[in-house]
Amino acid sequence: MSESGRAAWDEHWDAIRPESSLFGRIASLVRVQVLSRAVAHYASKYLAGDGPLLEAGSGTGQSSSRIGVPGRPRIALDYSTRALRQARSIRLFDAFLQGDITRLPLRDASVAGLWNLGVLEHFDEAAGVGILREFRRVLAPGGHAILFWPPDFGSSRMVLAPIEALRSWRRKSPFRFFPDEVNRLASRAHARRLLAAAGLEERRIDFSFRDLFIHVVVVARRPS
Ligand SMILES: C[S@@+](CC[C@H](N)C(=O)[O-])C[C@H]1O[C@@H](n2cnc3c(N)ncnc32)[C@H](O)[C@@H]1O
Repeated sequence: MSESGRAAWDEHWDAIRPESSLFGRIASLVRVQVLSRAVAHYASKYLAGDGPLLEAGSGTGQSSSRIGVPGRPRIALDYSTRALRQARSIRLFDAFLQGDITRLPLRDASVAGLWNLGVLEHFDEAAGVGILREFRRVLAPGGHAILFWPPDFGSSRMVLAPIEALRSWRRKSPFRFFPDEVNRLASRAHARRLLAAAGLEERRIDFSFRDLFIHVVVVARRPS
């Protein structure tokens, strides 16, 4: 990602601090009350065992605040220093890495499991496959990746798209709550194709009430 891309994320995190905007307060509430429960559910099923865990594109880390994996080293990685600063207030992570998800600063097979939410849709398909290959590289054989990936048809889009359209019309310039989302999931087949291109095995693809239909949850595994 370019410096301008990183600056866009720093600006985003400044703009949606809970204390500075209504959207920020609502987004924070959704992360803490809804998404964190969904993350904890999948983590209990697919991140059990030993070894370090990585949130790759952690943002504030609020969505991960209910993960119950005591005794495991937990790493938050993000490109944005603003996001990592906010993630420090979550009592979950043991280490914070400012790094690029497209070139993870981690050794081959060095993490037992990883997850993220709302990250992969920000990269075009070729870059997205490159990131999934990075996940395959750093995962230990048999390790799982849990990917909360917004679809075109998710509930948050249904709510945010009309507001974005109205605000764009009133300002006479495009308004978006998040930096560009260029690769939302179109279907399960779309997810399967990207996983196969990266050499990851599909374990499960869900779209459910558990996270209020905000994301498709793709669980993948590095083959043993
Ligand atoms: C929509 S946010 C994810 C929010 C997070 N799940 C949360 O609950 O706060 C996407 C995150 O991906 C990070 N990101 C974007 N491009 C990145 C890159 N190339 N390397 C690392 N992180 C990146 C952004 O800084 C941002 O924090």
